Amino acid sequence: MASPPTATLAERLMIYLTTPIYYPNDRPHIGTAYTTLVADAVARYWRLVGEEVYSVTGTDEHGLKIAREAEEQGMAPQEWVDHIVERFHETWALLDMSFDDFIRTTEDRHRATVQAMFQKWHQAGDTYLGRYEGWYCVRCEAYYTESELIDGNCPWHGTPVEIHAEENWFFRLSKYAQPLLDHIAANPEFVVPETRRNEVIGFIEQGLDDISISRATLKWGIPLPWDEAQVAYVWFDALINYVSAAGYSDDPDRFTRQWPAWAHLVGKDIIRFHAIFWPAMLMSAGLPLPRQVAVHGHLLVGGEKLSKSNATQILPQELVETVGTDGYRHHFLRDVSFGPDSNFSWEGMVDRYNADLANDLGNLANRVLHLAEMFRDGKVPARADHGRPEEQALAAAAAEAAGSLRHYEQFKTKQAIDGVWGLFAAANGFVEATEPWHLDSRDPDRLDEVLNAALEALRVGAVLVSPSMPGAARRLWDKLGLPGRPDDGPLAETATFGVFPESTVSKGDPLFPRIEG
Ligand code: MSP
Repeated sequence: MASPPTATLAERLMIYLTTPIYYPNDRPHIGTAYTTLVADAVARYWRLVGEEVYSVTGTDEHGLKIAREAEEQGMAPQEWVDHIVERFHETWALLDMSFDDFIRTTEDRHRATVQAMFQKWHQAGDTYLGRYEGWYCVRCEAYYTESELIDGNCPWHGTPVEIHAEENWFFRLSKYAQPLLDHIAANPEFVVPETRRNEVIGFIEQGLDDISISRATLKWGIPLPWDEAQVAYVWFDALINYVSAAGYSDDPDRFTRQWPAWAHLVGKDIIRFHAIFWPAMLMSAGLPLPRQVAVHGHLLVGGEKLSKSNATQILPQELVETVGTDGYRHHFLRDVSFGPDSNFSWEGMVDRYNADLANDLGNLANRVLHLAEMFRDGKVPARADHGRPEEQALAAAAAEAAGSLRHYEQFKTKQAIDGVWGLFAAANGFVEATEPWHLDSRDPDRLDEVLNAALEALRVGAVLVSPSMPGAARRLWDKLGLPGRPDDGPLAETATFGVFPESTVSKGDPLFPRIEG
């Protein structure tokens, strides 16, 4: 069987980028917020470049876990999820997330898509009725074989698993083992980073068993179109969100432009669902596969998993109170490498804030705006001398910093921001070297040029931090008295170091007040 093609960037019309859809019963913590934050920064980068973007997040609302919780709360499941989904909207708003869509698996557009996809597998002969008997972790909503359990418990959660035995529908996953291996071999970028790709290959090579995709004993789910007594297994329901949100059942024109996805961002714990089940589900339905599944590691606290029980489940709100939304975003995007596990530390976050934001960027902005107000009443003429070596070095640093944003295309947020900080280092060096505070009496024309170049560096800087710190970028832009917004783009024009235009700048409050002790 030939594996379907993965569209290349040049062929596609839209950048379609997804996060996993979260179980709404857990509050969004710094771990779940991490995936969402990376997706948001990358989506903002693509918009800045001028690409058409569709970025989606959402909630995974069916399944046994939610059904049981609703029962404990004495609520109908729908009522319960309507109530708890709000926590996600609140947290994403607090963190300045800019999604184009928020999909809930209880929506009609999703239900219709799930039923259509199940029907396709059924018609393709990829489903059959069988008897399932085995271990189930309700927290993972996943089946495990005896050998996968650790001391008889869930390998992820370390909590007891349940024995589940019932007659339900199976999907012929085994049939797709070879096509999946062929696809991965032909598309080395399908799963990144490489270590995760090898992990996926290892899984498949061990052999894939067919998998149970429906539940007869659960009511809270989407009924199968040909057997209404069974509902879809929650993972086979949830993964389909990626095509539902692309308009599969309610906007076919958009679907054609949007599918296949440019990238699915996922954490390492859900890799086999995304890199094995999902592509097999798409192959069976005759749909092309996403270009990429990008897998990141987990955030740990003191070397441990985030968990409610040992108070390591830190909520974004607690951190935003201290470092603000932009300080939060900057820290996670600059200090966490996409791929390996990473330890969160409060001190690390505060040090990062003071060093990068209060000092490098905040002081630079304060200083330059202060000088512009003091010597020129905030009105700096559009006078420049780009022939000078100091200005040339600054312009070169701006070009290099703008080029570093390309790292966002590989989710290398750290490298992208490291590059941007090169511009702030150069701008601080420029101010030190040209000593504008001595120039007004000695050489007023040179003062105009120096202030102009320093303001221009801040303007380009505001453009370049707009994917990582959209709020701070806008505040800086306003201080610079510029029209429009720093993220208006296209990047190739707005990040080009030129002559700072006539405008009235104002220092106002510090951009990033220092955090003491
Ligand atoms: N509902 C499923 C996903 C369905 S996607 C079709 C699910 N939800 S989840 O809420 O449990 O987790 C969602 C994402 O959060 C996963 O990518 C997971 O890796 C990520 N994280 C959960 N804890 C995390 C950390 N401590 N660190 C980083 N990411 C973490 O699984």
